[in-house]
Amino acid sequence: PRVVVLISGGGTNLQALIEAQQHDELGGEIVAVVSNVADAYGLKRARDAGIDAVALPHREYDSREAFDSALTKVIERHEPDLVVLAGFMRILTPRFVQRFLGRMINIHPSLLPAYQGLHTHRRALQDGVTEHGCSVHFVTEELDGGPVLVQAAVNVTPDDDEDSLKARVLTREHLIFPIAVRWFLEGRLRLDGNLATIDGYPL
Ligand code: GRF
Repeated sequence: PRVVVLISGGGTNLQALIEAQQHDELGGEIVAVVSNVADAYGLKRARDAGIDAVALPHREYDSREAFDSALTKVIERHEPDLVVLAGFMRILTPRFVQRFLGRMINIHPSLLPAYQGLHTHRRALQDGVTEHGCSVHFVTEELDGGPVLVQAAVNVTPDDDEDSLKARVLTREHLIFPIAVRWFLEGRLRLDGNLATIDGYPL
């Protein structure tokens, strides 16, 4: 099975997926990495792993629809079974989401449905929560609102700051993302309306 990964930045989640693939633990092959940021370090990670690395600078397109249309073409050229958003910092148009609905997943640094959107670690600290974490979910038209597939939780300690909490959550992201990708590629995860199932059982 074929995977296309979309990134915008450093790509540590991409790196975790690459290493899972190199250890035959991904269940498929990353055939392309596409970034909306031309100098994203994640593109270098792809190239170093011999993976097709494509920069598609969103600033070169005069609308969100034009960018998403160009992105769709690049993705479909690689005929993926799964599209993975790994730190892809773009709001996707409904048309794009519908195109890949049921075969597109994202990782978000919070225990969804808590803390959808940005600055999740700062907001969790400000609220004084004692538990935080990360979630892999199907991408639907609701931002960070799709059905959750896998989560990992971490304790928040009083001496945590945004950096320490982000770093601890990131280690868990690198753990659960490859598992979710493998389960999808094994055909175990399905999107049924706004419900996700594993082996036919509701998640
Ligand atoms: C991660 O925290 C991820 O949850 C969020 O953006 C960050 C991406 O990090 N979507 P990286 O580019 O994978 O290192």
